Amino acid sequence: MRILSGKETAEGIKLEIAAEVQARISAGKSKPHLAAILVGDDGASETYVNAKVKACARVGFESTLVRLDASISEEELLAKVKELNEDDRIHGFIVQLPLPSHISDQKIIEAVSPEKDVDGFHPLNVGRMVLGLPCFLPATPYGILQLLQRNNIATEGKHCVVVGRSHIVGSPMSILLARNSSPGNCTVTLAHSRTQDLKKITLQADIIIAAVGRPRFITADMVKEGAVIVDVGIHRIEDESSKSGYRLIGDVDFDEVSSKVGAISPVPGGVGPMTIVALLKNTLQAAGN
Ligand code: GUN
Repeated sequence: MRILSGKETAEGIKLEIAAEVQARISAGKSKPHLAAILVGDDGASETYVNAKVKACARVGFESTLVRLDASISEEELLAKVKELNEDDRIHGFIVQLPLPSHISDQKIIEAVSPEKDVDGFHPLNVGRMVLGLPCFLPATPYGILQLLQRNNIATEGKHCVVVGRSHIVGSPMSILLARNSSPGNCTVTLAHSRTQDLKKITLQADIIIAAVGRPRFITADMVKEGAVIVDVGIHRIEDESSKSGYRLIGDVDFDEVSSKVGAISPVPGGVGPMTIVALLKNTLQAAGN
């Protein structure tokens, strides 16, 4: 069994990005600049945004963190988005999701200029992705493609079962893996909460992308011997033996599944770091030539 280490793979990609930033600077160009809007004080969102800001520093990007109170109105947030759209110093920005319930995620997503939408969530970028046109790919699926490619996981002709149909991960992942490109050319099954006899389907998978959002949902009896497993889930569970009082686990029961499969991404240290470098790659792309 091979561990698909997102942590190691991401380190290699960060070195490449840092070299490109240095080349930009030598050519008299600006540093890529990513901004992130964080609304409220959700612990998980805070952790993710801090990791993104830290990664920017590592590769020589500028970053701006815009912290807004959870009580901000939708109009005020839309005004902030407009301000960032119009700020020439910022090449790309993200609005960390989820937003407080009185604000429409979709309305905010659609207000972000498609040229600065480094999350790839704007309908224009989603549509261009579906058509295979140049666009910003959503960070998690983009990071997973990089993880597969850089670890020499063959995808052509393979049966890939994506479990979970979210707009952020499952749905775009299914489209990207089915595309006529490399990585890609998979035969894709998109399974979800209404799928009947899920186990019968996952047992046929050469590759499983687990993005259901339920801890240890994928168990050993659901996977074929030698399959490749990518675990997108991230859940905090209590763990008194750890200093923080908790630890992180995924959508896959790693301990029982890992002994049966050909390769598996761990949690933490798998998809998470790859999502961050995908965002950095998009920001570099947004900064242009
Ligand atoms: N919340 C969970 N994943 C993401 C992501 O990729 N981007 C943003 N903006 N919010 C998220």
